[in-house]
Amino acid sequence: MHHSVEESKAIWNENAEFWDNAMGDESNDFHRQVVRPKVTKLLNPQPTDYILDIACGNGNYSAYLAAQNIPVVAFDYSEKMIELAKKRQVQYADRIKFCVADATNPASLLSLKRERPYTKAVSNMAIMDMTDIRPLFTAVYELLADNGIFVFATQHPCFVTRTEKYMTPHSYYDIAIEGQPRKQCYYHRSLQDIFNLCFQTGFAIDGFYEECYKTNPEIPMVIIVRIRKVPQNNKLNLCKNPLHELQFQS
Ligand SMILES: C[S@@+](CC[C@H](N)C(=O)[O-])C[C@H]1O[C@@H](n2cnc3c(N)ncnc32)[C@H](O)[C@@H]1O
Repeated sequence: MHHSVEESKAIWNENAEFWDNAMGDESNDFHRQVVRPKVTKLLNPQPTDYILDIACGNGNYSAYLAAQNIPVVAFDYSEKMIELAKKRQVQYADRIKFCVADATNPASLLSLKRERPYTKAVSNMAIMDMTDIRPLFTAVYELLADNGIFVFATQHPCFVTRTEKYMTPHSYYDIAIEGQPRKQCYYHRSLQDIFNLCFQTGFAIDGFYEECYKTNPEIPMVIIVRIRKVPQNNKLNLCKNPLHELQFQS
């Protein structure tokens, strides 16, 4: 991966105002059509939940949860994005705690630990923007309650990439939305790299969708994955099952 966290963060700080305007209060059409419905189906948010919104952008999905009386801790590494999110979502200030934290930095992630564990974590269209996702999955395992879930939506690595390479992880510049001030850094990972990381960090996949946009109903642009924290004791037992032994191999 060629592009550094510092570089990608500087770009997101520059793009923050554009992104906030483009997403507005309700997010954009792509998000509403392709991302939100299945993320919400897999997340199944309930008023008893305590949810971590990872790389929250302007907080549009946090607001959707807060509107259902669900308490949320939402973070992003872009200070500008968090400043704009706090302003935009001021009506939910009692339910959403916005923080600046870097999902590639273990210490920064552990600063998100609160007096009670999160029941659920969610990340919309962001892991493909992260230089390194191992710290995030490792930390989310620690931050979640036993059997807690993490739902993430990201670009479909088989169909959405701007390079010829599939197997080898790599980064490249591209835009998310026409007109954004600067191209952002994308980080490609194959499906097996993403899924094996989930298994290695103690999760089992128990929900999965591939979603298309209206422009092509046969080519999915997004994957939506639900992973469930397997408690340590069960993890040991699961490893006796040959299928799971395979999954936990590094
Ligand atoms: C495509 S936007 C998605 C924002 C939001 N989840 C949404 O759906 O509107 C990606 C977000 O990931 C954030 N991001 C990228 N790398 C990050 C990191 N290492 N730690 C925290 N946030 C990060 C960016 O600042 C940006 O807000």
